[in-house]
Amino acid sequence: MRTSYLPSCASMAALLFGFCLVSLLPELAAGITRHYTFNIMYQNVTRLCHTRSIISVNGQFPGPRLVAREGDRVIVKVVNHVSNNVTIHWHGVRQLTSGWADGPAYITQCPIQTGQSYTYNFTIIGQRGTLLWHAHVSWLRATLYGPIIIYPKHNESYPFPKPHREIPILFGEWFNVDPEAIITQALQTGAGPNVSDAYTINGLPGPLYNCSSQDTFKLKVKPGKTYLLRLINAALNDELFFSIANHSVTIVEADAIYVKPFNTDKLLISPGQTTNVLLKTKPYFPNATFLMEARPYFTGMGTIDNSTTAGILQYKPPSNLSSSKNLPLFKPTLPPINATSFVANFTSKFRSLANAKYPANVPLKVDKKFFFALGLGTNPCPKNTTCQGPTNTTKFAASVNNVSFLLPSTAILQAYFFGQNNGVYTTDFPVNPPTPFNYTGMPPNNTNISNGTSTVVLPFNTSVELVMQGTSIVSAESHPLHLHGFNFFVVGIGSGNYDPNKDPKNFNLVDPVERNTAGVPAGGWIAIRFFADNPGVWFMHCHLDVHTSWGLKMAWIVLDGPLPNQKLPPPPSDLPKC
Ligand code: C2O
Repeated sequence: MRTSYLPSCASMAALLFGFCLVSLLPELAAGITRHYTFNIMYQNVTRLCHTRSIISVNGQFPGPRLVAREGDRVIVKVVNHVSNNVTIHWHGVRQLTSGWADGPAYITQCPIQTGQSYTYNFTIIGQRGTLLWHAHVSWLRATLYGPIIIYPKHNESYPFPKPHREIPILFGEWFNVDPEAIITQALQTGAGPNVSDAYTINGLPGPLYNCSSQDTFKLKVKPGKTYLLRLINAALNDELFFSIANHSVTIVEADAIYVKPFNTDKLLISPGQTTNVLLKTKPYFPNATFLMEARPYFTGMGTIDNSTTAGILQYKPPSNLSSSKNLPLFKPTLPPINATSFVANFTSKFRSLANAKYPANVPLKVDKKFFFALGLGTNPCPKNTTCQGPTNTTKFAASVNNVSFLLPSTAILQAYFFGQNNGVYTTDFPVNPPTPFNYTGMPPNNTNISNGTSTVVLPFNTSVELVMQGTSIVSAESHPLHLHGFNFFVVGIGSGNYDPNKDPKNFNLVDPVERNTAGVPAGGWIAIRFFADNPGVWFMHCHLDVHTSWGLKMAWIVLDGPLPNQKLPPPPSDLPKC
């Protein structure tokens, strides 16, 4: 039997007399309501000697911390003072029956237009750890992102030693020019978009870039203490390796779910993923300072920004030492850029706690199986024009089961909820690839894909198994897939083509990691399972924004369940209009 995150409202009394809210109260009573205002505004920021007017929240870059406890209600009023349309997504927050607050533009809401506002209202249920918020329209999340910090309930503690201090570490990408111009141009020409000019740690590129040593993140620590680093990859397009010279860390949580702790001196974090690690500092002042570095993991053929961002881990010198200047500076060793075997080995170490307190409620029986082949492809260049895709008659594109998803011009959730589809979306998303082929072998001659706004409809509480197979069309790349509205269990992962006869025998149904974003390996596959226990329209996409822009995305529609707390309530009155 599985225990639902939702308090049970199944009693007859609840059904007959609407007592459901009352039975929810003990759960909600544990939490408080936290109010935030996010003013979306322009702000001048200088990095690498380039000053640019970026879009920020409240003039902060990276944006403000959203702090809550498990069980709290969070209310964020977002006011748009810039000329772009904006939405904010609370990445990884399950949004149980609060799908109107999820935030992806044209999926759950129309964007907030200039001068307008929208108030996001949701409760944190069954989650604790680190997540992130970010803009969810075009490439605005390049500068609109920040941490979500979820503490355990008041009387609960961490399942690991209480850290001396907690520090969010956000990885990002800095562009010397407006990222909106970059993606607009790329979609026109069909080319791969220009790459970023630097990676950043908490908005700062660090000393390995020209004109940047002033902009270096410094982590100041004391000897003999344990620090909780809340690592967040908010980069647009790059999976990143991270390491701290002469130190190892203990991974304790991923995507706001505790994991079985394990030690490592190097890690990979993909865009959309969050990882909490414990850093135990050296017992004595080490007479040295240490670089922490991040740089990309990439297996494709296109160009990427292969630069390295660095911050400094600095020990507070003992009082008898007048200065910590001129200490030797140690550098970490990171895996090579295409270290796929490191990635496979590292990824396999993540396991759910799967104990009585934090069970892994893995679906053991499957109602519906899906097989999605996903990766890059091409769209034909418009007649009488030259493009800059893989060939000059094609544009880069990306697809899931050969469908490159087109965002509609109104929100799918609105069209669905009010029964006014009128061609906004279709419900014919293919369960299997339309034409099977050797996914990781020689690509088919015709790499063109179809385009549409196609969704899958799932009855409430369907248990879903989804195998995602990476393809080698155009180039075999890894794809960090993110599912909105759910956590899923990664029950299997492998290289090459998925074998439906052999591979399921090795599925881990005991302690698989539970996440909201997981990498489909380059030239490999991953199998996930989840219960569709959250009514609404839920986006799923590659969290590399360039692939999302090219169409590597789709949406699930989960129908209401029979009980009052299994239905999506009507939208708030300030829901933006398109
Ligand atoms: Cu973090 Cu749909 O995104």
